[in-house]
Amino acid sequence: MQKLVYIALGTALIAASCNKQTTSTIKGLQEAKDNQTFADLDKARIKHLSLDIETDFKTHQIKGSASYQFKNNNSKKIILDTEELTIDSVLLANNKKTTFKLGNRDAVKGRALEIDITPKDTVVTVYYKTTSDANALQWLSPEQTHDKKQPFLLSQGQAILTRSWIPIQDTPSVRITYDAKIKTPKDLMALMSAINPKEKSKDGIYTFKMPQPIAPYLVALAVGDVNYQAIDNRTGIYAEPNLLKDAVWEFADMGKMVTTAEKLYGKYPWEQFDVLVLPPSFPFGGMENPRLTFATPTAIVGDRSMTNLVAHELAHSWSGNLVTNSTWDDFWINEGFTVYFERRIMEELEGKDYADMISVIGFQDLETSMRNIPKEYTSLKVNMKGKNPDDAFSDVPYDKGYLFLKMLEDKYGREKFDIFLNNYFSSHAFQTMTTEKFIDYLKQNLTNNDDSFVQEWIYTTGWPKGVQKPTSKLFDLAENQLQQDIKNSRNKVSPEKIAISTKSTNEWLHYIRQIDVDKNTKEDLAYLDEIYDFTDSKNPEIECAWFEKAFLLHYDKVNKNAKEFLVNVGRRKFLEPLYLALKESKQFDLANDIYKSARPNYHFVAKQTIDGMLNYKP
Ligand code: BES
Ligand code: ZN
Repeated sequence: MQKLVYIALGTALIAASCNKQTTSTIKGLQEAKDNQTFADLDKARIKHLSLDIETDFKTHQIKGSASYQFKNNNSKKIILDTEELTIDSVLLANNKKTTFKLGNRDAVKGRALEIDITPKDTVVTVYYKTTSDANALQWLSPEQTHDKKQPFLLSQGQAILTRSWIPIQDTPSVRITYDAKIKTPKDLMALMSAINPKEKSKDGIYTFKMPQPIAPYLVALAVGDVNYQAIDNRTGIYAEPNLLKDAVWEFADMGKMVTTAEKLYGKYPWEQFDVLVLPPSFPFGGMENPRLTFATPTAIVGDRSMTNLVAHELAHSWSGNLVTNSTWDDFWINEGFTVYFERRIMEELEGKDYADMISVIGFQDLETSMRNIPKEYTSLKVNMKGKNPDDAFSDVPYDKGYLFLKMLEDKYGREKFDIFLNNYFSSHAFQTMTTEKFIDYLKQNLTNNDDSFVQEWIYTTGWPKGVQKPTSKLFDLAENQLQQDIKNSRNKVSPEKIAISTKSTNEWLHYIRQIDVDKNTKEDLAYLDEIYDFTDSKNPEIECAWFEKAFLLHYDKVNKNAKEFLVNVGRRKFLEPLYLALKESKQFDLANDIYKSARPNYHFVAKQTIDGMLNYKP
């Protein structure tokens, strides 16, 4: 129906020999409005960015210039997004200074940088520096790194943080190529979401090129003491020298992973796929920066069982980086497809038992989100007007999105669905996607105009009817094991030490998650600890799950290790359940004591979440 309207309008316009005003109205119709940007893209739209910046580790500042080539639709103004940036001057192509204005600060969007241009201008250069409030950036001291020798800098752009280190039209509906010159202290390597160096430079100067157009949230920078090791001719790992060997072992299957993904949904579009292992305070598990995925070191667990994280970020090379959510209201278009794709890759590589385990874990996470987050954020499509997209962050876009696509697979058959997805990616490559555009495409190419699922799955909050709950044989066995162990605990059977390596990380994760805090006691935990040494586990997944139960049951023996964990690790997915468990078990002094020591190690996005949870006023 909607599609027909566009076509009819389009034809009418061509007949009327369209003028600029109406063309842009049409465009506006097709392209959803992004409420998180100040930019007016119909007037002036950036096409290419050239950065020339220096990273100052003494003042924790980035300073230099950003030049833009843009499409000018007869405009006398170009508007960029900024957040807490200092703008020194703005030059036009002839190096002549031009006037500019920084607008009032909006709590979500930051400040608009309005630059005066002539309708003929297509290039401007902004001289700027970051401030201590550059929310994208994390400046780490040597003590906060793995090797503890050199400082580290990382950026995290998604969702709307790029504007805090580069003035930019910070909306996923913009696509840019970029080049960059980065000056760093000697002995450090600079890396970007671009063609990267494989060795450190002698003079601390690095140049980059990103030839494929990407959304601004995917412009990324890291600077640190890292080395590179290739896995094959297009995949490899960057990590701190003393971590590199373990990282390469853990992710050794990366080459095969890319080939597997290509077999499913088409040629890998970005030439190179490398992973950068970051210090433990990186706030996410992974971030799909094109050509160079950023990853947490907490996925290096020693049994290759967390490699689905790499599969997930790799899958974003299609869903997200190639076909990009048009606005943050359509975030499930990035993550739901990616989770589905991730599990298909893992099924190919590790078999169905593995894929089943991560599907059950995802389903449990979705159950937790559905219970805990505001109802309005439990639909796939959300409305974030006037809000920070991060407020809606939860497992809903991930696992409700996955269940929706899995439902389509089951209904139409895997063979048909795979052809559909292949065509979906290739026909929308390097384009943006709104929920509505996807529904249209789905109706025309898979469901034969049936849209009975639309209201229920996409626009309605809560659980859709008839959800297929995933199951796992291996998890059933782990559950039986737990029941047996608890029985032995109650019957005072003397505990016998058993090596934890008898099961994979996911199985232990499930085992621990099944501990029922309403029925089991801290004495039971002590008994399990005798057998498996969970408290001293060096596996972050197991630590997080175990410390959560221990906090809830006041099993204080973990407190020392749990504090160390929370001070060291900044991955938000681990912090949230742990601080929440302290809060729910009313251990406010312990929570505050730990948070006070740990907070300086956390990235802005993690701080923001935990500040809110603990009602912490910095
Ligand atoms: N793109 C996300 C991370 C993200 C989302 C950062 C929204 C900022 C805003 C990334 O692909 C992701 O989902 N990472 C997961 C990995 C997991 C699902 C395997 C994570 O960090 O836990
Ligand atoms: Zn993702």
